[in-house]
Amino acid sequence: MGSAVLQFTDSISRQRFLDEFWQKRPVLLRQAIPPDCFELTPDELAGLACEEDVESRLICERQGNRWELRHGPFEADDFSRLPASHWTLLVQDVDKHVPQVAALLDAFDFVPDWRLDDIMISYASDQGGVGPHTDNYDVFLLQAWGERRWRISEQRFCEADLLPDCPLRVLREFHTDSDMTLQPGDMLYLPPGVAHWGTAEGECMTWSVGMRGLSDAELLAGWLERLPSTGRAQLHDQVDAGTANPSLLSGRDLDHVRAVMANALPADDVHFRRWVGCQLTEPKPDFEIALEQSDMQRTFDMWAQGRLTLRRHPWARFAMLRISEDRLALCAQGQALEYPVAFQATLEYACQSRRLRHAMLAESNPPGLREVILDLLRLGWLQPDD
Ligand code: SIN
Ligand code: CO
Repeated sequence: MGSAVLQFTDSISRQRFLDEFWQKRPVLLRQAIPPDCFELTPDELAGLACEEDVESRLICERQGNRWELRHGPFEADDFSRLPASHWTLLVQDVDKHVPQVAALLDAFDFVPDWRLDDIMISYASDQGGVGPHTDNYDVFLLQAWGERRWRISEQRFCEADLLPDCPLRVLREFHTDSDMTLQPGDMLYLPPGVAHWGTAEGECMTWSVGMRGLSDAELLAGWLERLPSTGRAQLHDQVDAGTANPSLLSGRDLDHVRAVMANALPADDVHFRRWVGCQLTEPKPDFEIALEQSDMQRTFDMWAQGRLTLRRHPWARFAMLRISEDRLALCAQGQALEYPVAFQATLEYACQSRRLRHAMLAESNPPGLREVILDLLRLGWLQPDD
């Protein structure tokens, strides 16, 4: 495939996108990604939708705003029985199943790696789509093949605006504020909550690069989950035997609860930093990488001789951070690997791209190269690119 680089324009530079549009308002970039970067045919997508471990949906719009939803895995026959128009097939997490698709994520290197959730790919027959709706995450909608019309509304919607008794989250009414048709290579960015409505103009394929967001509540729940439990209700120790009214909560009770909560906050900065790295790279369920058993020394040597390329496992999101004065951590899959700061150049190199060639190293043998690459191979976070 062609190299995946997002083409900002003279009028919408990368910086202007981040300052004015990211998380704020929609923007359309024409010819943002060369169409030859989208290497997946409708047949290949249908094939994925027939696999057991792949999440897929078939959505059909019937007369009278009636929507039908079926979940995969599908059989080839399911596709041959479909009508000529008004249906779409959507496959989730295609980047996790097809490494060539994951390579497109390099084009989004202006967003932290841990924020990239998945690439969902849809194939639609003429007029097919999922109806007007909102999503609660940022999304880059890339037109891969054919044409799709997108309508956007500036109105804010809530649960009460959804079509009742519908298996999908479809808005009952939609007032169009902007209307555009995307050609192959065009990209529409939408922040969370902006209502949109895509319909295929003839057959088309759309790639949706969706962001992952953690709510404050999810972050706190993640922190509490890792707190060691004392296994004892400490509050019982605080009962005041001489209370005049057993229903009264005393100031001491309140102080005790406040103290328990304050003590749950991170005190040790190293522990906290390591936890953040682990938490933000936690894999989705079913995307845990198994340890690699093959001969890693041989793989390392071949790579160091320029005879093979290593690629990041498509399920691994990398995050690198300093956890103390003299230690760095490379996190992925909810785990942290710790190294001395002297390994910084090696770690930066390992994080910079999804495909690593030895020739990309500024210095051919920076400190820690063998150790880090062997660790990443052993954990399966890097693998030979075939
Ligand atoms: C699609 O590809 O049809 C759906 C994308 C979206 O609206 O989020
Ligand atoms: Co959407």
